[in-house]
Amino acid sequence: MLLKLEKIKKTYQSNEKTAALTVLDLVDFQLADEESCVISGPSGSGKSTLLNIIGGLTGPDSGKVEFNGNDLSELSKDELAHYRNRDIGFIFQQHHLLPQLTLIDNILLPTIPFARQKQDYDSLERARELLERVGLTDRLNHRPGQLSGGECQRVAVIRALINKPRLLLADEPTGALDSDTAANLTDLLLELNTEEKTALIVVTHSRAVAEKFSIHYRLINGKIQVS
Ligand SMILES: Nc1ncnc2c1ncn2[C@@H]1O[C@H](COP(=O)(O)OP(=O)(O)O)[C@@H](O)[C@H]1O
Ligand SMILES: [Mg+2]
Repeated sequence: MLLKLEKIKKTYQSNEKTAALTVLDLVDFQLADEESCVISGPSGSGKSTLLNIIGGLTGPDSGKVEFNGNDLSELSKDELAHYRNRDIGFIFQQHHLLPQLTLIDNILLPTIPFARQKQDYDSLERARELLERVGLTDRLNHRPGQLSGGECQRVAVIRALINKPRLLLADEPTGALDSDTAANLTDLLLELNTEEKTALIVVTHSRAVAEKFSIHYRLINGKIQVS
């Protein structure tokens, strides 16, 4: 298994007056290398919390996250940073591209920490190839403000893939798009999942998006169910 979650528990304590909220209640979850799945569930059910725990952005209160056989809680600070930057690619509802940078510079931004390390590929060449793959070759020197929302999201997908992550995490990636653009972006994610040999977890509350996946989970009342 690429990813294995065991008995993950996460509780938020907002303040002394409100009761603690258990968002994830002994969640078990697994994903194999190159596999894709979708997680749906009502707003506030803990989907983003779960992705953030998988991505090493938040720690669980208890339970274990294993990636490629390594327990995330046992990684050093540097190893955890490496995990977030190299093993994982993140896509959010908003593209979070930097408006003052060209598309090509936005895509190359995540490669900066590794610029002095030898890669078996050239990042600039890879960025160009990926831009061509998503049909934006002629826009590489444009800035995000010159593109549509769907185009920006395609660039955000490439930026997430530039360091060749093993796992792509997408939190409501189509939430800001109209339904046709959402369908196209989901198709693109699934195609790139195969072409780039990454595993993929998409969180969505869109039924149309969820229907494109063969493995479905539902997060509800702190529990994850196959659906
Ligand atoms: N840092 C936090 N502190 C307190 N409560 C939080 C925090 N983050 C999320 N929550 C609460 O936990 C619940 C789950 O949030 P979230 O994981 O964002 O759900 P979803 O992504 O499914 O909408 C929500 O009720 C939210 O208000
Ligand atoms: Mg969310």
